Formats: sequence, structure tokens, C-alpha cells
Amino acid sequence: MSDHMSSNLPLVWDRFVRIFHWSLVLCVLSNFFVFDDGKDIHQWTGYLAVCLVALRVIWGFLGSQYARFSNFFPTPNRLRRHLKALKSGVHEEHAGHNPLGALMMLALITVVLCLGVTGWMQTLDAFWGEEWLQNTHAFIANALIALATIHAIAAIVMGRLEKTKLIKAMFTGKKERW
Ligand code: HEM
Ligand code: HEM
Repeated sequence: MSDHMSSNLPLVWDRFVRIFHWSLVLCVLSNFFVFDDGKDIHQWTGYLAVCLVALRVIWGFLGSQYARFSNFFPTPNRLRRHLKALKSGVHEEHAGHNPLGALMMLALITVVLCLGVTGWMQTLDAFWGEEWLQNTHAFIANALIALATIHAIAAIVMGRLEKTKLIKAMFTGKKERW
């Protein structure tokens, strides 16, 4: 789509959501694949991820239309309708998150918060050197990477099915068609 046409599209992901998303991705991937020793940089990067999520939760109440939880909260009704549509091969368009994407979004931010808590606990005298806590933190980190992988694949697949450039939209804020 040419530039003058895409500039007419509605802004779905506001600037805060876009910066939040890619900053969170950087924090999570660098803590998992690069700074995984649990030392200073790991801790600061982990707390930064937690702060990003905390701000996103606030933005979920105050942000622009499609950033608000009320716009996409995956209620049982919305999920049922979405699953039914998927099964019947109808690819509904969702201006913001589709209900399954919304469920994944909530799971991802919850898991980041759990990493923050279990990471912080490891810095306390009370839990120093506790192996179960290290294992729990490592397990949750692996779960986060597994979920994020499913999330990224889903974004690619759904983008194809809906003929929409979903990943580009996380950079530009606008959902262009293929
Ligand atoms: C550690 C890795 C990742 C995490 C923790 C993560 C987390 C999130 C979160 C929390 C949202 C919700 C955005 C919001 O409403 O504020 C989101 C949305 C989104 N993410 Fe990610 N993400 C990750 C990796 C990726 C990757 C690698 C891609 C691209 C391939 C991607 C593509 C998207 C897209 C397209 C959306 C919008 C979904 C929609 O259209 O409903 N994400 N992600
Ligand atoms: C995005 C958030 C985070 C991710 C993805 C993450 C991921 C990881 C991973 C993959 C490891 C290595 C686990 C292993 O040994 O197999 C680890 C270890 C560790 N993390 Fe985190 N972490 C995060 C946040 C935090 C935070 C906020 C803290 C503390 C303030 C923290 C403290 C630690 C400590 C102390 C270790 C070393 C555990 C050990 O000795 O085995 N992490 N983390």
C-alpha cells in the first residue's frame, strides 16, 4: 500500500504501546540469551521489564482506544465468538487485539511479573542460595520464551490469514493490508 493510503488508516497501536513492546522484547531476550548470570545487569534489565509492564497496565486504563483493556479484554463471550469464527474459517478483522491475542498478551505480562518476583526473592537473605527458587525462576523464564515463540508465530500466521501486516503494525501503529 502506498504511503498516502496508509496515512489514512487508523492508528491502532499508539506510540507508547509500540515503544513498550519492542523495549520489553529487548529486555526479555537479552536477559534470557545474554545476561543470564543473575548479576547486576540481569537484575536491572529484569526490573526494567517489570517497570515497562507496570506502565502498560496503567496505560491499559488511560491509554488510547485500542490500548485499553476494556477494548480487548478476553471475556468468555468474546473468546467463544472468536473460536467459532476461526473454526468456520471466517477471518474476522479486529482493529486491536483479537481475543486469543489478548489472552496471550495477559499471559506474557503476568509471566514477566512472576520473573520479577522470583528474581527479586533470590536477592533476599531469606532465600539466598535456595535451589527451588532458582529452578522456579529458570522454569518461568523458559515458559516465557516458549509463550513468546508461540506468540510470534501466531502473529505471522494470523497476519497471513487476515492478509494484514500485523508485525509491521507494531512498528508503524497502522494495520496495512498485504
Ligand atoms: C520476548 C518476546 C515478546 C514478548 C514478551 C511480547 C509481548 C507482547 C505483548 C505484551 C503484546 C501486547 C501489546 C500491547 O497491547 O501493549 C504484544 C503484541 C504483539 N507482539 Fe509481541 N512480544 C514478544 C515478541 C514478539 C515478536 C518476536 C513479534 C514479531 C514476530 C511480536 C509481535 C507482536 C504483534 C504483531 C503484536 C500485536 C498483536 C495483535 O495484533 O493483536 N512479538 N507482544
Ligand atoms: C525479564 C525478566 C527476567 C528473565 C527473562 C530472567 C531470566 C533468567 C534466566 C534464563 C536465568 C538463568 C537460569 C538458569 O540458571 O538456568 C536467570 C537467573 C537469575 N535471575 Fe533472572 N530473569 C529475569 C528477571 C530477573 C530479576 C528481576 C532478578 C532479580 C532482581 C533476577 C535474578 C536472577 C538471579 C539471581 C539468577 C541466578 C540464579 C542462579 O544462580 O541460578 N532475574 N534469570
